[in-house]
Amino acid sequence: MDYFLIKNIHMTAAGLSLGLFGLRAWWSVRASPQLQRRWVKVLPHLIDTVLLAAGVSLMIMLRAWPTQQPWLAAKLIALVAYIVIGTLAIKRGRTSTIRAAASLVAIALFLYIVGVAMNHNPLSWLAGV
Ligand code: HEM
Repeated sequence: MDYFLIKNIHMTAAGLSLGLFGLRAWWSVRASPQLQRRWVKVLPHLIDTVLLAAGVSLMIMLRAWPTQQPWLAAKLIALVAYIVIGTLAIKRGRTSTIRAAASLVAIALFLYIVGVAMNHNPLSWLAGV
């Protein structure tokens, strides 16, 4: 498959993933029953699977590995942190305040990852400043 097609799928999935996370985080902080809807539970996992599969495909097509490219390593480490803090925001956080704080940290991590991807630099948005 064409590299740019997969890259576009990856970037579109990233945008959708952030949008759905924001929505679920908002419902989580407000303890809304919307969070229990079936599509809300299923769709984000489908999108995130596409996001990851496309990312891994790009990595293989570029022959760029996290052990050689610090920006890819930074992306993967931040991704793990995003997933852990994301579950705190949506599932595990016991109070609304904890869920709101975790949501903000998770969104900041996501934006860090986008900056790392665009600049190919672990400094993310600060690269070249
Ligand atoms: C939350 C997770 C992720 C987000 C938000 C994200 C975001 C992005 C974005 C926005 C780009 C396009 C950058 C540009 O403008 O050139 C990109 C490219 C890329 N991503 Fe991801 N990504 C994520 C996860 C991953 C993962 C897990 C991998 C690898 C295992 C990966 C590998 C790549 C590669 C190889 C590129 C291509 C860079 C290029 O062509 O210059 N991404 N990512």
